[in-house]
Amino acid sequence: MGENPLHPRASARPRSGPRRALVAGALAVLGAATALAVAGPAGAAASTLGAAAAQSGRYFGAAIAAGHLNDSAYVATWDREFNAVTPENEMKWDATEPSRGSFTFGAADQIVGHAQGKGMRVRGHTLVWHNQLPGWVQGLSSANDVRTAMVNHINGVMGHYKGKIYAWDVVNEAFADGGAVGTLRSSVFQQRLGNGFIEEAFRAARAADPNARLCYNDYNIDDAAAAKTRGVYNMVKDFKARGVPIDCVGLQSHFGQVPSNYQQNIAQFAALGVDVQITELDVGGSGSAQADAYRRVTQACAAVSRCTGITVWGVTDKYSWRSGDTPLLFDGNYGKKPAYDAVLNALNAANPNPDPTPTPTPTPTPTPTPVPGSCSATIETTNTWPGGFQATVTVRAGDAPVDGWTVRWTWPGGQSISSLWNGVQSGSGSGVTVRNAAYNGSVAAGSSTTFGFTANGAAAAPAATCTSP
Ligand code: XIL
Repeated sequence: MGENPLHPRASARPRSGPRRALVAGALAVLGAATALAVAGPAGAAASTLGAAAAQSGRYFGAAIAAGHLNDSAYVATWDREFNAVTPENEMKWDATEPSRGSFTFGAADQIVGHAQGKGMRVRGHTLVWHNQLPGWVQGLSSANDVRTAMVNHINGVMGHYKGKIYAWDVVNEAFADGGAVGTLRSSVFQQRLGNGFIEEAFRAARAADPNARLCYNDYNIDDAAAAKTRGVYNMVKDFKARGVPIDCVGLQSHFGQVPSNYQQNIAQFAALGVDVQITELDVGGSGSAQADAYRRVTQACAAVSRCTGITVWGVTDKYSWRSGDTPLLFDGNYGKKPAYDAVLNALNAANPNPDPTPTPTPTPTPTPTPVPGSCSATIETTNTWPGGFQATVTVRAGDAPVDGWTVRWTWPGGQSISSLWNGVQSGSGSGVTVRNAAYNGSVAAGSSTTFGFTANGAAAAPAATCTSP
């Protein structure tokens, strides 16, 4: 421990993030990077991060802390700019199961509820991690006890959020910073269960919510050639070869300096057959050097079709765990920094993803008997720009639960969808058909789920029909 200045303590507590960060001089190197003039793709430029990312089928998220939800400018910026969220601390073990068997979801539910109301994707963070782990878990002394506690925790937390989570960080930061390739850090999980605890956690997670993407998440695995990166790469390759369920790798990407082979690193993980997500991006610095670094990260993700989205680790510098490094896209007054413009332009310049978004590994669950139910759908425009718009579609179940839904509408004036998420589109022309994604087909009686899209043409919200299954 202590090798990474961003992770100096095993006992991280809320707001105890490092005050001093990466070597400042390293940032100067980035200043030399040439700022490329970027030409937008065919169509219009979006004016917010989420809408810009959606044009190429990606999301752009932020870590959100429940403790700041009373700051109206914070919430307004989240709602305006982002279409995904990761609870910053609220889903961690110390927050969700502070004493054995007692689950508390109040703070995380606040964030998830808000996100669902806005049609945002939610990343679940995190189930098995050595930090922010209650003392009762650290004190467990037998393998069986740790295994039971770990699986029970996964079932309890994933069960509570079943169907609502796009991707879970199942295991966080399990690899050591030094030592031979593949060395895991010491933790109660590694000590009691051995290295196989990671595989056990992923298998339990797949069973607990078969429709969530399951990610391994870590820091300092951004350099394609680093020993720690190679350890994680080998694990993912092995998991894929043996059928251990894993769908994605999360690159935390807490940066001072972006590795020169960062895009190559994203591509090498993607080539193993997993999605890559940039999960906790923040880059210390300011001005054009910081903007260049953010541009490079965004361009690297945009260049790899399986890089499905970017999450920045906070909204405003003033609440950042690295606030002394001013590492985020908005300053303390929610003003847009040069880094914001760099990211927005890079997202707008991204070529629309030519490949279909990969679905999670097929699930082993038996086919459920379809439950007949009625549903309704409404389209709401959430953003517009010259020549295009973004909308959220709410699918609501009637008095009976719905197991699978299909929404249809007809465009009034030649509009066409450019990107759609949380649903599967078929057909073309003026008639649109969207079916549920693998993970949001089940809607409880009286409840709703949402999907979203961006479209070319004049903003329109035509009447939609919903049928089930
Ligand atoms: C950080 C939070 O931002 C802080 O508020 C908290 O005090 C400590 O944890 N890697 C992770 C994140 O996976 O959960 C950490 O978040 C940052 C490092």
